[in-house]
Amino acid sequence: MIQNEPVVRRGDMIRCALCAHAPCDSACDRLDPARLLRAVWFRNEQGAAARLPEANPCLTCDAPCERACVRPGEVPIRKLVCRLYDEVKPRAETPPPADEARLACDLCGIALENPFLLSSSVVASTYDMCDRAFEAGWAGACFKTICSMDIHEASPRFAALTGDSGSIIGFKNIEQLSDHSVAENMEIFRRLKQKWPAKFILASIMGRDEEEWGTLARLCEENGADAVELNFSCPNMAEGGLGSDIGQVPQLVERFTASAKRACRIPVLAKLTPNVASMGPAGEAARRGGADGLAAINTIKSVTGVNLHTYVCEPAVHGKSALGGYSGNAVKPIALRFIAELAQNPKLRGLHLSAMGGVETWQDALEFILLGGGSIQITTAVMQYGYRIIDDLKEGLNLYLAEKGFDSVREAIGLGLEFLSGTTDTLERDTVIFPRFDREKCVGCGRCAVSCADGGHQAIQFGEDRKPRLNGKKCVGCHLCLLVCPQRAISPSRKRIMKG
Ligand SMILES: Cc1cc2nc3c(=O)[nH]c(=O)nc-3n(C[C@H](O)[C@H](O)[C@H](O)COP(=O)(O)O)c2cc1C
Repeated sequence: MIQNEPVVRRGDMIRCALCAHAPCDSACDRLDPARLLRAVWFRNEQGAAARLPEANPCLTCDAPCERACVRPGEVPIRKLVCRLYDEVKPRAETPPPADEARLACDLCGIALENPFLLSSSVVASTYDMCDRAFEAGWAGACFKTICSMDIHEASPRFAALTGDSGSIIGFKNIEQLSDHSVAENMEIFRRLKQKWPAKFILASIMGRDEEEWGTLARLCEENGADAVELNFSCPNMAEGGLGSDIGQVPQLVERFTASAKRACRIPVLAKLTPNVASMGPAGEAARRGGADGLAAINTIKSVTGVNLHTYVCEPAVHGKSALGGYSGNAVKPIALRFIAELAQNPKLRGLHLSAMGGVETWQDALEFILLGGGSIQITTAVMQYGYRIIDDLKEGLNLYLAEKGFDSVREAIGLGLEFLSGTTDTLERDTVIFPRFDREKCVGCGRCAVSCADGGHQAIQFGEDRKPRLNGKKCVGCHLCLLVCPQRAISPSRKRIMKG
C-alpha cells in the first residue's frame, strides 16, 4: 500500500551522498544498495522493496557496504534495508507493473512515452546531454531557449539554500539563454530527431520582435521540433523588454504568440512568468493568440542571501549581484497554485498544461498532474541529482497508478481540482478536529507544548511525566502541534466536536 508518509525518511539517510559509482554497490554482491538508497531518497520505497530478493541477505552479513561508504559507518544501510523488508515489503499489495504502458500520454495530441521532460535550461542544452537523458528514459526535452542574440553569461551564476543534509532546497540562477548559434541548435534538433524519432523535442525560443518569433518557430519546425515553447518568462535577461517583461504584458503575449502560430503548424505553448499576481491574463492572451498549451512556472525573482561582511548578495559577480530566478523544491507550492489556477480558469479549458516548479519525486509530479498538469518538466532536481532520477519518477508513478487501478496517467489529470478553492470562504467552519497523541511514539520533548503556548492557544499542558495533555476547552484544532512534532507522534483525532 503506497503511503503518504514514508517508513524511511530522508533524515534517516541524511549522510548518504547518493554517490556516482557508489562504493557500497561494489562492496555488496547480493543487493544493489545504491539503487535502493536512491529509491528511498526519491520516495519510491515500494519500488525499492519490490526489487529485494525473498530472503534478507543483510541478516547474515556484517555490512561491508557501510564500511566501503565514502562516509564510512555514517549511513545505516543495513538497518534501512531491514526496514524495507520488515515494514514495506509485507504491505506491498500490488506487484510492480510489467510494463510502462499506463505512463503513456500526450502533449497537444503528440505521443509521450511518459509525462516527464527535461525543462528548458542547461540540462537540455547539447546533443550529448539530450542523448543521454533519452537513453536514461526521459520522454523528451524542452531545449535550452534558442535566440539570435549574443549571450554572455556571468560567473558565478548560481546560489542555493540548502537543508541539513546539504541538499539544495531552493536554487537561484542569473542565467540567460542558449549561447549556441541558432544554426548549431538546429543541427542538434536534426541529429536528435534522427536518432530518437519517438522522443519529444520541445523547442524553447525567444525573439525580440514579431518577425524573429516567427522565424525561430518556423526554423524549429523545419528542423524536427515536435512543438514550440515561447519563453515569455526568463527573469534574467540583460536586455530590457524581453522574457518576463513580455510575460507581464498580455498584449505582447498575444501578439508574439500569434506571430509564432502564423509561422508554423506544430503546437505552440506559451511559457508564463510567475512574477505576476495572476497568470490568468497572460494565459488568456496566449489563447487569443492561438496557443495550444501553456507551460509554467518559470523561475521566481528572488534574492538568496546577503553576505554579512561584504554586503553583496549571492551569487556575487565581481562584488555585485542581481535579482535572479528561484527554482527547486522550495517553489513547488507556488507553482502548484499557478497550475491549479490555470486549470480552473474556464477561459483556458482544453489547453495543454505543461507543469513544472520544484519536482523531485514522483509524488511531486503526481501533485501537479492531479491539479491539471498534462506533462511534467524538470530542471533543478536534474541539476542536483542527474538524469538518473527518471528511474524513480517512472517506477513510483507507475506503481501508484497500478495500485489505484488507473489504466492511464491521463485519468489522473485534474482529479484534485474540485477539492481546491481559490478563496477560503467556501470552507466549513463548525468542526474542530483535535490532535491525538501517540504515547508510545512520544519521546517527551515538549515541542508541541512550547509551540502551542507561544504560537497557538495554550491548550497543551506538559507535566512532570514529560507527556503532553490536551485541554479540549482551549484547543481550536489548528494542528500546529502535529506539524512541529519531531517524532511525528501526533495525528488528527477521529473525535471531532461541533462548535457552538
Ligand atoms: C540554471 C537554469 C537555467 C534556466 N534556463 C531557462 C531557459 O533558458 N529557458 C526557460 O524557459 N527556462 C529556463 N529555466 C527555468 C526552468 O526551465 C524551470 O521553468 C524552472 O527552473 C522551474 O523548474 P524546476 O524547479 O524543476 O527547476 C532555467 C532554470 C535554471 C535553474
